[in-house]
Amino acid sequence: MLNFDFSDEQLMIRKAARDFAERELLPDVLERDEKAIPAIRQIRMLGELGFFGIMVDPRYQGVGMDTIAYILGVEEISKVDASVGVLVSVHNSLVNNPIEHFGSDAQKEKYLPSLARGESLGAFLLSEPEAGSDATMQRTQAIDKGDHYLVNGTKNWISNANIADIYILIAQTHPDQKHKGINAFIVEKNTPGITLGPHEDKMGMRSSDTHSVMFTDVKVPRENRLGENGQGFKIAMKILDSGRIGIAAQALGIAMGAYERSIQYAKERKAFGTEICNHQAISFKLADMAVKIETAQLLLLKAGWLKDQHQPYTVASAMAKQYCADIAMNVTTEAVQIHGGYGYVKGYHVERLMREAKLTQIYEGTSEIQKIVISRAIIND
Ligand code: CAA
Repeated sequence: MLNFDFSDEQLMIRKAARDFAERELLPDVLERDEKAIPAIRQIRMLGELGFFGIMVDPRYQGVGMDTIAYILGVEEISKVDASVGVLVSVHNSLVNNPIEHFGSDAQKEKYLPSLARGESLGAFLLSEPEAGSDATMQRTQAIDKGDHYLVNGTKNWISNANIADIYILIAQTHPDQKHKGINAFIVEKNTPGITLGPHEDKMGMRSSDTHSVMFTDVKVPRENRLGENGQGFKIAMKILDSGRIGIAAQALGIAMGAYERSIQYAKERKAFGTEICNHQAISFKLADMAVKIETAQLLLLKAGWLKDQHQPYTVASAMAKQYCADIAMNVTTEAVQIHGGYGYVKGYHVERLMREAKLTQIYEGTSEIQKIVISRAIIND
């Protein structure tokens, strides 16, 4: 049975996120982008509203909502401020999710409540200087020392690295076993031996906090390993299946933000004696944007629905991530075109949205990586 209605709860989350974004994020989003400073005050408020535990079971002090509600929340936040959108996405999908699904009871009880309340924040440490797309090539080593693992290595491009308190770390324990020797760990950022590189001066998503993280003889207690020995790569892949839904929602939110601003602008701006929305050169662009956004939303909601039904969703989330990111780049580029000269300067937001869209085609697997996941499934079907 097909049902395109949202539940009251899902609509409530969407409205709460929209109201919050317009009231709290919009006023200083341009300044935070320019100065590359995180939205610390707003992040605290989002924690109080429950956005850092949207899908976490109420037993661990989460809100216990479904993936659809999460998607709608991330979209609304990202329409206004995608840097906060990626924080919410990484925290929920890449940190809460693996602890809740692969963690022991003790790990869940220790870490989930403060993460779900937003009192501690999370980051996911997979990428390395030589392991971006090829995630099996982990050089960071976690050597088994009995009661602890000794970690040495460097992680790159880590979103939330500085403001996070809890890391999900992917590292190699048995290099000779390739991906079967990889483990996943919960690591507390204040563990001795962890240092951060400088803040990355990024093209877009500038108020998102991105650093390298260095590990020098860091002792991670044995009880902090997630799952069975050698299961880390599969856990990482499963984490990314869910993470890609969050980034797809972020990308779609960026596209929606650019689209809504373009409609508003096209109804106000006059050229050749009429509002520019009356010229087909502009109205056809708006129509194309609308079709792309609607298609992307359907793909994304399908991926979220499959996840909520506990059905396989690897391919659906890769399709949603690829398509939402690619249309975000296209829609924001067209939004700049519709705005003309105003689109190329800061005050109208669309140039920022275009810079933000680019990153959604790169992180949590480039668009090309999503095509690998999709095409392998098609060929092996
Ligand atoms: N679920 C469960 N298991 C999976 C899986 C999945 N989705 N995908 C692969 N696996 C398993 C396979 O079954 C296989 O298991 P066996 O050895 O038992 O057969 C094993 O994992 C290896 O699989 P592959 O041979 O398919 O692995 P591969 O080396 O060919 O790589 C890949 C596959 C899809 C390219 C993968 O490397 C990948 O996703 N790369 C991109 C990494 C990425 O997204 N990085 C982003 C970093 S996080 C980030 O950006 C966060 C942020 O800050 C915003």
